[in-house]
Amino acid sequence: MSDAAVDRRSFLGSLGAGSLGAAMAGHLAGQALSAGPKPARKWEPVSDRKIRFGIVGFGHCQFGAAFSFQNHPNVEVVAVSDLIPERCKGLMQACRCSKSYPSLEELIKDPKIEAVFVATDAPSHARHCMEVLKSGQHVMTAVPAAFGSIEDAEQLLEVVKKTGLKYQMAETSCFRPDNYAMRTLYRAGAFGTLVYSEGEYYHYHTTPIPSYKGWRVGLPPLWYPTHSTAYYVGVTGKRFTSVSCRGFKGAFDAFKPGANRYNNSFADEIALFATSEGGASRMLVSWTVFNRIEETGRVFGSKGSMDATMKYRGGGHNLPDVSLPPLPPGVNPGGHGGSHGQLCHEFVSAILENRQPLVNVYEALAMTVPGIVAHQSALKDGETLKVPQYDPPT
Ligand SMILES: NC(=O)c1ccc[n+]([C@@H]2O[C@H](COP(=O)([O-])OP(=O)(O)OC[C@H]3O[C@@H](n4cnc5c(N)ncnc54)[C@H](O)[C@@H]3O)[C@@H](O)[C@H]2O)c1
Repeated sequence: MSDAAVDRRSFLGSLGAGSLGAAMAGHLAGQALSAGPKPARKWEPVSDRKIRFGIVGFGHCQFGAAFSFQNHPNVEVVAVSDLIPERCKGLMQACRCSKSYPSLEELIKDPKIEAVFVATDAPSHARHCMEVLKSGQHVMTAVPAAFGSIEDAEQLLEVVKKTGLKYQMAETSCFRPDNYAMRTLYRAGAFGTLVYSEGEYYHYHTTPIPSYKGWRVGLPPLWYPTHSTAYYVGVTGKRFTSVSCRGFKGAFDAFKPGANRYNNSFADEIALFATSEGGASRMLVSWTVFNRIEETGRVFGSKGSMDATMKYRGGGHNLPDVSLPPLPPGVNPGGHGGSHGQLCHEFVSAILENRQPLVNVYEALAMTVPGIVAHQSALKDGETLKVPQYDPPT
């Protein structure tokens, strides 16, 4: 693959197409499987209510329009926004929406809007989500929940708790077919306790990927941890408790002294976490492993194991159906292994059913904050550091 191939397509299309194909074929095979997965269920509406949405952000990845909110039968897109007028127009067009505001800050004043999808630059997510929640609207955000700041993460948690509104982080790995199957089997006890797990996000790029005000230039890899950490937290709902992390110094210009705002020289970071189950988990984020662009993971438990091939190796019997939930007509599964439509539908369903979404604020912080601590560990030459815990009330 040439460097030129490391572009917007890599965000939207190329990641995970293989594993989606496997799931569509209902491919789950293994020695202990007595019956194949049942055929996908049919979508049944739970309500004919339309939730009135605002959508913000149509940047390099054009994420605002990528999750099919505009096609969901329980959504009306009331208004959209991007600070850059041409992008704002593009988002209006993509969402078939006739109303726009010049900024998120203006959009949230619209009393019609009940929920907002925040697809802005990563450094703004926590602040933008808090603004949305404080103005009385539910919020779904692109990853990560917070950007390099544990204080921001903790403030966000307080605002979610105080407002009682729905919050979801759109971690795409959580609805990749392999991750979904792992979670379903884990919940059914088919893996037992996880002894070990691995999560990997490789995104090779020799020059920085475009981003609003250059936030991707020299980005500390594990400040963007959630595609990897979803392969433990998103599977088990359990937590990382401590970490030791190694950083690899990147040779590319963006990682040279003074070349980035983060004073960061690491282009790849590999973290070893202790888990609340008493096991270990290796999570990596990599910008410089040659030509590799992939989001993947593996789980190894006391009763079984699984990798991206979705082959269950274990002693479990009567295994549950692992096919993804059916989507309403018109909602496209979309990119990142067919996860976009699922994340939109999960958030909309959580609002309609008045329940917590899958990647609620506690899960979002459990996937995000450990990466921030891991980067601190890498800066201290791998010193073992404790990971703060944010557990939901029991
Ligand atoms: N697999 C994944 O989950 C995945 C993949 C790609 C991108 N992302 C995330 O999606 C988000 C968007 O990515 P991108 O590459 O398009 O980002 P980007 O930096 O290119 O664009 C961000 C956009 O937000 C707009 N914006 C910022 N502040 C605003 C405000 N106050 N009001 C209105 N608009 C505002 C900017 O004008 C810009 O167009 C990022 O946070 C990224 O981390 C996630």
